[in-house]
Amino acid sequence: LDISKLSKGGFDHFMLKEIYDQPQCLKDCMSGRLFADKDNPSNNHIVLSALTDYKDRLMSAKHIIIVACGTSWHAGLIGKQLIEKMCRKRVEVAYASEFRYGDPVIEPEDVVIAISQSGETADTLAAIKLAKEKGALIFGIVNGVGSSIARETDTGIYIHVGPEIGVASTKAFTGQVTVLTLLALALGRELGTLNNADYYQMIEELSEIPQKMEKVLEKAPIIKDISRMFTYAHNFLYLGRGVNYPVAMEGALKLKEISAEGYPAAEMKHGPIALVDQDMPIVFLATHHQLYEKIISNMQEVKSRNGRILAVVTEGDQQVKKIADNVLEIPRTLNALVPLLSVVPLQLLAYYVAVDKGLDVDMPRNLAKSVTVE
Ligand code: AGP
Repeated sequence: LDISKLSKGGFDHFMLKEIYDQPQCLKDCMSGRLFADKDNPSNNHIVLSALTDYKDRLMSAKHIIIVACGTSWHAGLIGKQLIEKMCRKRVEVAYASEFRYGDPVIEPEDVVIAISQSGETADTLAAIKLAKEKGALIFGIVNGVGSSIARETDTGIYIHVGPEIGVASTKAFTGQVTVLTLLALALGRELGTLNNADYYQMIEELSEIPQKMEKVLEKAPIIKDISRMFTYAHNFLYLGRGVNYPVAMEGALKLKEISAEGYPAAEMKHGPIALVDQDMPIVFLATHHQLYEKIISNMQEVKSRNGRILAVVTEGDQQVKKIADNVLEIPRTLNALVPLLSVVPLQLLAYYVAVDKGLDVDMPRNLAKSVTVE
């Protein structure tokens, strides 16, 4: 750890520096783990020592439980979708604070994955101690090297994104999602539940995510301009489906220091739609994927109630532009990798709104970087 990691590097806030650090952080996270050969994709492979050392336990797991808090819990929701799709194993995602007091049913064959940036979150630490007493394999996805949670686990994968100083987590989230993607790919490959073509294609596309993320960051000035429209909004609604539903929640959490709510888009009609009016910005994650047409109809429901729509879309989208008031384009990628790109405009939006409102971006009110107490 050199002192440069602890300076703002010319940025106004650590949060903004850490948003911009993400492409390099993901390269660091994948270094020595992901190997992509453009000339010969059949050489593409992933190396995870944790999978080598605990292959049998991980492959034989009947039930995988992810325990985490806050942003890390949102990463866990994406991990659930990735592992279930690629490994065909049932995954439950639990709030660590609920898990630790809920007397959960844990079998010795189970694997409990603890996701934590700091590695010091009291609820997550207590949750894995409980799971360990019941004989489960404890797998850590942690940033804090040598942290309490890292020491409590049997094995795991460090995300290696460097110290995250801003209280609102950004690079740790994309680092966690990247590691969960590596784990799902490597385990699916071993289990034979992921075919070679998908395995090779995902590895190649994942290797290109850092430069695609750079393209999204180039649009920061556009996002800064749009954020001014939202500065005086009292409430926001973030809506997404599939892999973008956890991104909607994460985008809302980033703005939670002000006031926002993340929701699965289909749930809107079960209540939140009552909030929609011309004063309430609605942020849609509307990238191309299997539920695209449904998110379009959700958008039309909002538009018919005079909601102001900001939509994150896939580059070249012409349909959403006809409905939304503002669109933010991200490069096309595989559906499973969309969160790594679609979260970035939401991080920047939260940052610029907070700056416009004169909030303490790096030390939001009432928040601590690591919640080491109950
Ligand atoms: C997110 O921006 C917050 N910093 C908070 O929700 C955080 O994700 C949560 O407290 C979990 O922290 P951890 O990842 O260090 O365990």
